[in-house]
Amino acid sequence: MNRPYVHINVAATADGKIDTFERKGAAISSARDRERVDQLRAEADAVMVGGRTLHDEDPTLTVKSKLLREERLALGRTENPAKVGIASRLDLEPDCNFLTAGSSRIFLFTTSQTEESKLAELRALRAEIYVLGEERVDLTAALRVLKENGINRLMVEGGATLNFELMRLGLVDELTIYVAPMIFGGKNAPTTAAGSGLVRSGALPLKLIESESWDDGGVLLKYHFEKRSNDDNHARTIPGSPG
Ligand SMILES: NC(=O)c1ccc[n+]([C@@H]2O[C@H](COP(=O)([O-])OP(=O)(O)OC[C@H]3O[C@@H](n4cnc5c(N)ncnc54)[C@H](OP(=O)(O)O)[C@@H]3O)[C@@H](O)[C@H]2O)c1
Repeated sequence: MNRPYVHINVAATADGKIDTFERKGAAISSARDRERVDQLRAEADAVMVGGRTLHDEDPTLTVKSKLLREERLALGRTENPAKVGIASRLDLEPDCNFLTAGSSRIFLFTTSQTEESKLAELRALRAEIYVLGEERVDLTAALRVLKENGINRLMVEGGATLNFELMRLGLVDELTIYVAPMIFGGKNAPTTAAGSGLVRSGALPLKLIESESWDDGGVLLKYHFEKRSNDDNHARTIPGSPG
């Protein structure tokens, strides 16, 4: 396969929201779920986020547990996985967490909308930047580049728009959702997958692999994406219509 194994991880409320309508990166995971996410990061070769999550939340994307970092080093890996940002227009500050936390490789995929001066500034800060597209980043090409750079296992940590695009293009193998016992509501609050949406006949089929009920009241759902015969070119482009 000319792309990494792709695993999307999400923390959602019982009504499927991954943040409140305020879009300030609301905490949804329990303490136990935060540990599980840290473990997933530690297993990954790279961790990816979408442009809004990248710019609005400025995540560090590092492994929090010292023990897990040491285990990576003992296996001859880098202390932290590589970081990957997908943004139509890059506007990162040089001192942001994403660029400064840890010493792992940093991949940024963007479009011709990012100014040349910004590209030069970020490259000087050791970011490896690829301009792939004019309107939006070509995600298929971005995953190919990651694979060519030794990224075999990619963890995607949102947000909603990036999740949906990767799913729509058939680029996702696994989805885990921690469903927290709470409701956010709000028609503008982001959900697990946003974007233009699909009509019913275009729905992406999932296979439930595992479900766990936790003492903290949460539920962990693990899905695989069903492979389809025309998987190489099955991108769904039909905008949602109730029909
Ligand atoms: N609970 C969780 O697990 C979790 C995890 C992460 C984030 N979140 C939440 O998710 C929300 C952010 O999600 P979001 O949907 O607004 O944004 P997002 O998915 O973080 O970022 C998407 C942005 O990436 C850019 N992009 C460029 N090429 C793209 C492509 N080919 N496909 C998709 N996007 C592309 C787009 O920018 P342009 O529109 O400029 O083209 C788009 O706005 C926040 O509220 C955050 O807190 C929750």
